[in-house]
Amino acid sequence: MNLSQCRIIELPKILDDRGNLTFIEECTHIPFEIKRAYWIYDVPGGEFRGSHAYKKLHEFIIALSGSFDVLLDDGYEKKKYSLNRSYYGLYVPNMIWKSLENFSTNALCLILSSEVYKEEDYIRNYEDFKRANSQF
Ligand code: TYD
Repeated sequence: MNLSQCRIIELPKILDDRGNLTFIEECTHIPFEIKRAYWIYDVPGGEFRGSHAYKKLHEFIIALSGSFDVLLDDGYEKKKYSLNRSYYGLYVPNMIWKSLENFSTNALCLILSSEVYKEEDYIRNYEDFKRANSQF
């Protein structure tokens, strides 16, 4: 996989004087079936999350509230995305090294995932990731 396969996806936005509404449907707005949702919150200042890649899992990352940065690395190139709106998110396929950092106070990060949680799907060592990605 390489960074060109990672992209911001804008979601439908229903503007309304009573408050706006955004929604997401699996396989329509994002290119996978959603098997799991989890969220990251109450992140202390200066902390970061992630720093790993997945062998199979694809994901879609949304800043439901506040802001944070997503650092992506395909083993050759790095790219940083700042997420700060609830009506778009970042699609990240498998075999991309990902870190989340620079969380604002009260940031709420929702992650929609193509797989249930399996520790065997993680690559947590960067050198192992580089070696595995060069074989893809
Ligand atoms: P991890 O995925 O390493 O967190 P992050 O990438 O956000 O820094 O997961 C942290 C811990 O939580 C780890 O012990 C596994 C556990 N966990 C689950 O049990 N289920 C889940 O769906 C997730 C995402 C993590």
